[in-house]
Amino acid sequence: MLKGRNLINVDDFSIKEVLEIIELGKKIFEVPSDFSDLCDGKLLGTLFFEPSTRTRLSFEAAILRLGGRYINVAQSESASTAKGESLVDTVKTVASYVDIIAMRHPKEGSAIVAGSQCSVPLINCGDGGHQHPTQTLTDLLTIYKTKSRLEDMTIGLCGDLKFGRTVHSLVKMISKFKNNKFIFISPKELVIPEYLKVDLEDRKIEFIEEENLENIIDKLDILYMTRVQKERFFNEADYVRLRDSYILTMQKLSKAKEDLCILHPLPRINEISIEVDNDKRAKYFKQVELGMYIRMALILKLLGVR
Ligand code: CP
Repeated sequence: MLKGRNLINVDDFSIKEVLEIIELGKKIFEVPSDFSDLCDGKLLGTLFFEPSTRTRLSFEAAILRLGGRYINVAQSESASTAKGESLVDTVKTVASYVDIIAMRHPKEGSAIVAGSQCSVPLINCGDGGHQHPTQTLTDLLTIYKTKSRLEDMTIGLCGDLKFGRTVHSLVKMISKFKNNKFIFISPKELVIPEYLKVDLEDRKIEFIEEENLENIIDKLDILYMTRVQKERFFNEADYVRLRDSYILTMQKLSKAKEDLCILHPLPRINEISIEVDNDKRAKYFKQVELGMYIRMALILKLLGVR
């Protein structure tokens, strides 16, 4: 039963619960009009203390398309946290106005602290470089719709694997499905965190690390590109040195499988050349679109509607 629960980490929901949300997201995508008034009278609060285009707007579009409404903090300077109010006090306040909260914050762990004191369901929309579970639900729905499966795949994750919260959430979740293998492609400075590698080793899940995308691109069923996360760097010079480590071009794709699925959580800076957008393997704008439907499904489940 998902009603009334928070979504802070991908581990908060069982595989069965995740599959239920994906199935509902798929149904809403197919016939959105069947769901257009289910949240009549419900109010979502979006609290975004970090910039966002897709996550905030897809949540706001999701509640509107379900017949509900929203109030928001779209810029950290516009909330009383800028005057020194604690995040917990802010969340408690907003929870007394709304039925459900979607929150993004630059600090790792902020969502678990806020969620522990929140009287309505709280959804983590990104806490620093830690996790971004609703992006993972979006990624799974996109993979499922593209490949008709979530298992038996070789998944390459490429770019900033150290700070990329979408990578951390996706690896944790999709490694729970049978027979998935991972290739982590990054510069040495941006390798995937040790705790995730230890977790994979403990569960005997196969993975390798690689610096060169072209060496392994032919092996991949999924290629998950990511941008180098400028906002998490302490040093501008390091960012400038690493930001162009990987740029996916048609020339590099010439060695890839015909049914490769190319994903990117976006925003893109220059990790994927614009020419790739027209290739049938590019699914990142489909991923954007599906993000709204999966968030509609998540809102319905956490509110216990239908
Ligand atoms: N994928 C994602 O989180 O995008 P935004 O930062 O635009 O929300």
